[in-house]
Amino acid sequence: MAVREVIRMGDPRLLHKSQPVERFDTPELHALVQDLEDTMRAMNGAGIAAPQIAVNQRVVIFGGFKSPRYPDADEVPYTVLVNPVLEPQSETMEDGWEGCLSVPGMRGVVPRYTRLRYRGFDQYGKPIDRTVDGFHARVVQHECDHLDGILYPMRIRDLRDFGFADVLFPGQQLEDD
Ligand code: NI
Repeated sequence: MAVREVIRMGDPRLLHKSQPVERFDTPELHALVQDLEDTMRAMNGAGIAAPQIAVNQRVVIFGGFKSPRYPDADEVPYTVLVNPVLEPQSETMEDGWEGCLSVPGMRGVVPRYTRLRYRGFDQYGKPIDRTVDGFHARVVQHECDHLDGILYPMRIRDLRDFGFADVLFPGQQLEDD
């Protein structure tokens, strides 16, 4: 359908709480998912949330890529997740580097729960219920934060662990997510 403009940090629309999707398998929802996928692929993202293209709905997509930043991570399956509910399965949090298409060129260290159950629906209304860990769990937490108006820099504990990707990781090609 279309690669959409990704709005960037500073735009108040990234700070809003998004609305639940009420009807599944509609032309509007399919068009939104296609636009999210086109935009994520065009920008080499690991995931993207609807608010990042200025759509105030609880829809995220992620996965379907091999991450050069996490060469040992299992491949995260391409997933469309609507109206997600997250339940950490452990108190344990782990620090890891993150980026975001709405914060281009930057990276920061963010603590995330290591093990996570997430539930929701795909765009057809089919239920999703998974328990995951590691990078998969991190991506889901990052993307779903967007639905509550939270950007990863808000979760950085020590702002010394925040900077420009090309300075932090010279010579590496890194995607945003
Ligand atoms: Ni993001």
